[in-house]
Amino acid sequence: MTSSSRLPGFYHLPLEERVARVAREAGLTDEETVALHAAIGLDLARAEQMVENVVSLYSLPLGIAVNFVVNGRDVLVPMAIEEPSVVAGASFTAKLARAGGGFRAIVDEPEMIGQIQVLDLADPCSARFDLLAARDELLALADETDPVIVQLGGGARDLKVRVLEHTPAGPMLVLHLIFDCRDAMGANTVNTACEALAARVEEITGGRVLLRILSNLADRRLARARCTIPVDGLGFRDFPGETVARGIVEAWAFAAADPYRAATHNKGIMNGVDAVVVATGNDWRAIEAGAHAYAARSGRYTSLSSWAIDAQGNLAGTLELPLALGIVGGATRVHPTAQLALKVLGVETARELAEIVAAVGLAQNLAALRALATEGIQRGHMRLHARQVAIAAGAEGDEVAPVVQQIVADGTVRVDHAQEILKRLRQGAKA
Ligand code: MEV
Repeated sequence: MTSSSRLPGFYHLPLEERVARVAREAGLTDEETVALHAAIGLDLARAEQMVENVVSLYSLPLGIAVNFVVNGRDVLVPMAIEEPSVVAGASFTAKLARAGGGFRAIVDEPEMIGQIQVLDLADPCSARFDLLAARDELLALADETDPVIVQLGGGARDLKVRVLEHTPAGPMLVLHLIFDCRDAMGANTVNTACEALAARVEEITGGRVLLRILSNLADRRLARARCTIPVDGLGFRDFPGETVARGIVEAWAFAAADPYRAATHNKGIMNGVDAVVVATGNDWRAIEAGAHAYAARSGRYTSLSSWAIDAQGNLAGTLELPLALGIVGGATRVHPTAQLALKVLGVETARELAEIVAAVGLAQNLAALRALATEGIQRGHMRLHARQVAIAAGAEGDEVAPVVQQIVADGTVRVDHAQEILKRLRQGAKA
């Protein structure tokens, strides 16, 4: 368990020392430390067991966000992402939040929804009644499909039945099976249970069952995070804390009112969310689908977060989104780096993982809004982006730093300019 996520100067340490520091904080074994350091992640043999037609592996950088305190616990957060600024942004705003006590997060029971579509019904409302009358029998049948999860305290919880009067294929009935998946993401469990119920649902209703599948709009499995940022900590250079706080609230208001802005605002939140979801081997497409569907639940797509100035004049933020995350099953178990990531996070339940992910999403949102509402996103972003530009221009090893420095100083972070600088640098080295 991490004793402190406050690791001043972590950013400036050489890579080996960063690994050693994380290993020490997370209590990794020697073998795990070597695996983390040597980037011994997935191998081809394992990859072949995961998907079809494997020809290679695809890697992403794994960074560690520092400074996070979630529900009073210090956590180091592994983030797998290709975009510069994300890990740095989350670490920076986690530090601001730390001064206000860190993040508080709460998560619903891990209840997922499975859908069973029933067609060809003469009287959908009577069929609905018959299904609800058979609730206990159907829940028991669903429980039989996963005795292990039932033993762990999960299992079928409830049935809801909806009549869709007007669809392009006419009226239909949809049965929702509510299933507590405990520490699993739940797709396999729920799909199996839905398939097992289909024949009995047909008998009860006299209709025809077509789809039997999990819904990614996991709105019974919401995660919420909150933080309070002392206004003094928000000020920098020519920007007083009060101005920054007000700017962040105004930036959020824009996203709250306008779907065009909300899409980008939520993308910033998902920068943080997805990076942890990917690092832990979870299904990020499911998380994305759930988040955006939830953002549109009122019929108008809007912001997943909200920001306000509290009674003390501090900045207060909240985030709410569905997080169907697992720590057992799927890639979380098969992918060695995902296992290491879970160990670094120090989580023992899917619920704890969701608490941290929600906190990271909120931190990421704050990082983006703080930059956007003050100096703009490009200044900080370009410095980090410049590294990728220098490498794309052909810079190698020791050449990268001077090329980055020059293109940033020139204010022209472009590959053609980096190539020019690199050419000059190499000519200078030969002379
Ligand atoms: C870029 O990856 C994310 C941002 O566009 C998010 C936002 O605009 O809030 C900076």
